[in-house]
Amino acid sequence: MSREAESVRRYSPFFKIQKALKVLDYGTGTMRNALYLTDRGFRVYAADLPEQVERLRNRPATQRVKRLLATDELPQSRLNVDLVLSTYVFNIIMGQQERHSYLANAAANLRPGGYLLMEVRCRRPGDPCGDSCHDYFSCGECAKTLTHDELDMLLTPHGLRRVSHYYRSHALAAIYRRE
Ligand SMILES: C[S@@+](CC[C@H](N)C(=O)[O-])C[C@H]1O[C@@H](n2cnc3c(N)ncnc32)[C@H](O)[C@@H]1O
Repeated sequence: MSREAESVRRYSPFFKIQKALKVLDYGTGTMRNALYLTDRGFRVYAADLPEQVERLRNRPATQRVKRLLATDELPQSRLNVDLVLSTYVFNIIMGQQERHSYLANAAANLRPGGYLLMEVRCRRPGDPCGDSCHDYFSCGECAKTLTHDELDMLLTPHGLRRVSHYYRSHALAAIYRRE
């Protein structure tokens, strides 16, 4: 099992102080972050695509999380969590409609005043990219990265306002709050 994401390690003490203990790990993958937070007293709901949920279902570690959900359950699940965790998921979703549904589900399961922690692959604002990349068309590599301004444009319509962010190497981590 790989280590938890850097942003989860950095920010989990803050979420603990805020009593944001009920968590949805949205795009849980191998559950590395879900298990890290469970071990620290958070109650974690883990969600992923149906095919990944099938892979996880019979793993003993899955018993340690509160519940495992397939993404198609999320529009109705109304979990009312204090924190949605999204690490290295949003940057691999390429379709606009899929991105919109992902954020709508995140917001629908987050209580007002709750937090969304998102970590994505980034390019630093102003970084040059390939020749094929200009103002209107992104090259393939560039499309899989996001800046905090791009995240703001996508998340603000879902009632999510950025309260903090940092860049580190090729990662961007940002905390949003649901208004
Ligand atoms: C690179 S992995 C990251 C997993 C985990 N968050 C982590 O940091 O270890 C991306 C995960 O996102 C999931 N995923 C892809 N598209 C998704 C979507 N539309 N909704 C939820 N999860 C999705 C994949 O199945 C995969 O488990």
